[in-house]
Amino acid sequence: MSSMEVMVFDEDVSTGYDRAKEVKEFDETKAGVKGLVDSGIVKLPRFLIHPQEALPSCTDAAAATSCFQVPVIDFTGYETSRRSEIISEIRAASETWGFFQMVNHGVPVGVMDEMLRVIREFHEQPREVKEKWYSRDHKVRVRYFCNGDLFVAKAANWRDTLAFDFQDGPLNPDAYPLICREVVSQYMEHILKLKEILSELLSEALGLRRDYLRSIECMRGETVVCHYYPACPEPDLTFGTTKHSDPSSLTILLQDTIGGLQVLHQNQWVDIKPMQGALVANIGDFMQLITNDKFKSVEHRVLAGRVGPRASAACLLYPSQCRKYRPIDEFTTNENPPKYRETHMREYLAYFRSKGLDGYKALPYFRL
Ligand code: OGA
Ligand code: NI
Repeated sequence: MSSMEVMVFDEDVSTGYDRAKEVKEFDETKAGVKGLVDSGIVKLPRFLIHPQEALPSCTDAAAATSCFQVPVIDFTGYETSRRSEIISEIRAASETWGFFQMVNHGVPVGVMDEMLRVIREFHEQPREVKEKWYSRDHKVRVRYFCNGDLFVAKAANWRDTLAFDFQDGPLNPDAYPLICREVVSQYMEHILKLKEILSELLSEALGLRRDYLRSIECMRGETVVCHYYPACPEPDLTFGTTKHSDPSSLTILLQDTIGGLQVLHQNQWVDIKPMQGALVANIGDFMQLITNDKFKSVEHRVLAGRVGPRASAACLLYPSQCRKYRPIDEFTTNENPPKYRETHMREYLAYFRSKGLDGYKALPYFRL
């Protein structure tokens, strides 16, 4: 982008609006959108308002409650009698929806509920307590921020985030905020077990040997982003999360009962309805890349809502930082050559971050 374009975009000469200044001042409060709520705003500041054409339409609302339903997969018997059935269901869901809900997945509902509770509690602490965690530095392993792409995106989202980055290995829980220390440790213990189960089931769903995805370190490291979406005074003007697909291999998502998460299916936005005890799994861009489009990384978004707060925890499972990846030989033939060039996670994430959540996928950039 030329400096001229940036100027036109940032500074509306006719109205004197200076977006860069508004965003900087907001960021410096270190209070997130929760801080805006606490200050009593009834109108959204301009930096949060999305262009009319990007906002949900009436036809969207009709489709969201249509006949489509994201597949629900019951993991009961995954080691025994129902394994092949479950593998088929995972294959079908991953090839079409890119999403499925999991029940009886082994993560105790009590631990899930506790996780959502401490996420709310963290974000509802006074600003003075939270501000010391506020950071935009990706090297900081535990940090809190409002919109990772605040200075890049054209319109911000109604969402604050507490993130834990385990990509370089486990962290000492002493480095977690005290208010969520115990529960985050417990939750991660269970999620890591589920990750191993999913790694094997997905390998088999791809027709590969059970330990294949593990052997290539496809889901080696985790980043957990704990989102907080306060009740929004003007939900029709913004998003909780702009349409995007995840840069991970796989994401395991915990959502509360509020709703608002939608997936794009056959060109329609479909609600992913909260289900007691369920976790959502979705294929990420990296899985689509290495499977040469067999498994789909599908776009999803979160609507802002008048009712809230909504809490969620997305555990993004990333491949090894040290390896290069390209479409796996099993998914390429002379007639179906590799669709993507070789890349590594650092390069992929750098590109993903540089563009921010702009409504476009990152994958096409790596297409041959
Ligand atoms: C994400 C995401 C959905 C949610 O973090 O990538 O899509 O429900 N989150 O918060
Ligand atoms: Ni996502």
